[in-house]
This record gives sequence, structure tokens and C-alpha cells, in this order.
Amino acid sequence: MYKIVKREVLIEGDTELMEVYAPRIAKRINAGNFIMLRISEKGEKIPMSIFDYDRKKGTVTIIFKIIGKTTKELSCLKEGDSLLNFLGPLGKSTDIEKFGTVVCIGGGIGTVPFNPICRDLKKAGNKVISILGARNKDLLILEKEIGNHSNELYIATDDGTKGQKGFVTDVLKKLIDDGVKIDRVIAIGPIIMMKFVSQMTKPYGIKTIVSLNPIMVDGTGMCGCCRLTIGNETKFGCVDGPDFDGHLVDFDNLMLRNNRFLAEEKEASEHGGGECACKKGKA
Ligand SMILES: Cc1cc2nc3c(=O)[nH]c(=O)nc-3n(C[C@H](O)[C@H](O)[C@H](O)COP(=O)(O)OP(=O)(O)OC[C@H]3O[C@@H](n4cnc5c(N)ncnc54)[C@H](O)[C@@H]3O)c2cc1C
Ligand code: FES
Repeated sequence: MYKIVKREVLIEGDTELMEVYAPRIAKRINAGNFIMLRISEKGEKIPMSIFDYDRKKGTVTIIFKIIGKTTKELSCLKEGDSLLNFLGPLGKSTDIEKFGTVVCIGGGIGTVPFNPICRDLKKAGNKVISILGARNKDLLILEKEIGNHSNELYIATDDGTKGQKGFVTDVLKKLIDDGVKIDRVIAIGPIIMMKFVSQMTKPYGIKTIVSLNPIMVDGTGMCGCCRLTIGNETKFGCVDGPDFDGHLVDFDNLMLRNNRFLAEEKEASEHGGGECACKKGKA
């Protein structure tokens, strides 16, 4: 069992932080790895990126958006409760070297893994330019944390309530048009955002890494659920990724595959629980 040592609401009813005691994982985890967690015997395993880890305390911190059955149940747990499974580190860690100038683009909850990624990139001597995007200022997360690990930070909101009005790609386009020499782009967020970032950088030959979020079942390369088309090859998101060359990814195929279980997920969220006793006033 994995004890929850801290729980914090970042955005009421939408986004929460959870620090979990998992010393074996904390010792080995690196930027870009992810974990799979399961709340109880009856639950499903879900993948989560790493927001932070503390090797001395033996803890790993995740941040999750409440969207369906399992994340709703997760949001009902309290400090002192435990998770049945917390597996990791999974996936390949993000390539960290001195590249030069790296633009890190986080959309929505995709901002989470940039905390360790930007920190390590800066430590390795890169100039880190971060662009964070959200629908509006109330949904913007981790501005302070990512800002601390960046040389420059830009914000874009769809409705213009914070930073530039528009998309993260508008900010990236301006940097390119202004002649900023960009050696690498890392984009993590909605699939459509990663697709457009990759399309934008391709003509300029800017190496672009995206972190993909296919539906995962086991997270260890056994079930084939997270199959992706990368160039002409089939890859598994959980063991070959989650980071891939954005210029080679078939994003349309990923979008189609991720929508396969929409009906079942809706059913599970509405009728299969997905809300714990506390929300039903029974706790
Ligand atoms: C490598 C990886 C890292 C991730 N890191 C984070 C993270 O740090 N924080 C976070 O909040 N979420 C993260 N996710 C997404 C998270 O795993 C899903 O939100 C979660 O599985 C949803 O479970 P649920 O039962 O609450 O919702 P479900 O009822 O299963 O799904 C609800 C909705 O979420 C969508 N969804 C389901 N699975 C995924 C998925 N794997 N990726 C994207 N959308 C999905 C479905 O299309 C559906 O519409 C990550 C996914 C992957 C693959
Ligand atoms: S999640 Fe099963 S093979 Fe990747």
C-alpha cells in the first residue's frame, strides 16, 4: 500500500496534487517517467506523469485533472489514505543534455511533467523558454513553479484573461518570426496542440519532442493498448515513449484510438461509481 502524505486542491473540483510515499520509485524516477496507480482491487490502473519527487523523503508527487471515474475516486481520498498500487518508474525518461535554447510548451494538465523537465534542462546549461497555455486564467497551473525553472516564461489563454490572447502556437510563431534561435521544442498537452506545434516547427527543422498520452492498460508493453504509429513503425507509448519525435507521429491515428472507449468511459463515470461516498454525503 502507498500512503498519501499530502493532498492539495489546486483548482476546486478540477485539479489536485497528491504526494505519495513510494521510496523505491522516488529513488529511481527521472524527468519524463510516469507511474501507473490503482486505488483498490476493483479499480483500473491509470497513468500519471511525475510532477516532483523527493529521494530523501521517499515521496513522489502527481497532479491530476478530475475527468472520469478513477480520477473522481482519487479526488475523494484524504491524507493518510493509501493507494493499492503505485507502479514505476515507467517509460523512458526525457533526453536531457545541453541543447542550447529549448522551448517548453505545456497545455493544460500537460504542464505537469515540465516541473522536473525544465529544472533538469536548466541545470544542464540550457536556456529554457517556457510557454504555458490554458483556456482561461482560472485553469492556469504551475506558473510560479515552471517560471522558477525558466529563463523566460510566456502565458497564453484562449480568452485573453492572462498573458497573450490566443494559443501557445501563436507565442511560438512570434519567437520564430523574431529570429530566436531555437535548438529544441518540447510540447506536452492536448493531442491537437502537439500536432500543430509539430507542424509549425517542421519547415524550420527544429527538433520537436512530444509526450504522448495513448490509453494505457498495463503500462509495461504487454497489452498493446497504447499502440502508436511513429514514422512507418508501430511503437508502444508505455515502453518506447512517452516521448517521441513530433515530426514522425501520426496524431490523427492517436486521436481516433483515444476515442475508442468514450461510450464506456461515460457509462462508468455516470453509473459505475466514479463518485465516492464523501460526494454522496455518506462519508
Ligand atoms: C503517460 C501519461 C501520463 C499522464 N499524465 C497525467 C497527469 O499528469 N495528470 C493527469 O491529470 N492526467 C494524466 N494522464 C491522463 C490520465 O491517465 C487520464 O486522465 C486518466 O486515465 C483518466 O481516467 P478516468 O477513469 O478518470 O477517466 P476515464 O473515464 O477513463 O476517461 C475520461 C476521459 O479522459 C480521456 N482519457 C482517458 N484516458 C486518457 C489518457 N490516457 N490520456 C488522455 N485522456 C484520456 C478519455 O478520452 C475520456 O474522455 C496521463 C496519461 C498518460 C498516458
Ligand atoms: S499500456 Fe499495454 S502495451 Fe502499453
